[in-house]
Amino acid sequence: MEMNMNADEIYARRREFFNEHAESWADMWYKDQSTGRYDKHAKDFERLFSKIDLKPGDRVLDVGCGAGVLVPLILERITAAGCLFELDYSEKMIEVNKRNHPEGNIQFITADVVDAPLPPESCDAVICFSCFPHFHDKKRALEVLVKVLKKNGVFAMSHFSSSKGINEHHGNCRAVMHDMLPDEDAMLAMLKATGLKVKDFVDEPGFYLINTVKA
Ligand SMILES: C[S@@+](CC[C@H](N)C(=O)[O-])C[C@H]1O[C@@H](n2cnc3c(N)ncnc32)[C@H](O)[C@@H]1O
Repeated sequence: MEMNMNADEIYARRREFFNEHAESWADMWYKDQSTGRYDKHAKDFERLFSKIDLKPGDRVLDVGCGAGVLVPLILERITAAGCLFELDYSEKMIEVNKRNHPEGNIQFITADVVDAPLPPESCDAVICFSCFPHFHDKKRALEVLVKVLKKNGVFAMSHFSSSKGINEHHGNCRAVMHDMLPDEDAMLAMLKATGLKVKDFVDEPGFYLINTVKA
């Protein structure tokens, strides 16, 4: 059946999948079932944010934000003086995210990444956590995201799995079976073509991070 699906059908099915799982997303991925606390990946987040340079007053785009797992971690660093843009094309993810995060310095945006309605050079950082493989036009998505970054701004992409682990996981899930992380060479070529300078590239069991700055 998948063989016969065209790109529009794959796109629609993927979006429907994220809408259907929005309410349970945090329970599925971040809840420690033994304690009931949402801190299953606390150490991984600590490691991720030790690498991303955020400071009070920064303007940050959390793209493919889902239900907003990064919100408290980003707000803690940019403080009330900063501004956080939570962008996702799943209206249900944005609905859940908004309900759980009433802070006044968050702007919620329901849009595809390639249509991100932010002015050029308006953000200090763009964080792309656990979502890049799902972008249907990765080259265009990167171009758009780099455009909204200020010069010397940070672009970080991360997963709490290796690229091999992510690709295997997606391969086993019908709704996202086409969603793959490009291999290291292809990824580095794409980043370079959009004017990003790579500071860290980590791809190991349990952790993937590409940390870059806009030249
Ligand atoms: C695997 S989930 C991760 C969500 C969140 N970052 C997290 O880690 O909990 C991927 C997210 O990317 C969003 N997404 C996928 N393709 C997108 C696109 N083209 N534009 C905007 N958001 C997209 C999905 O709706 C989903 O919320």
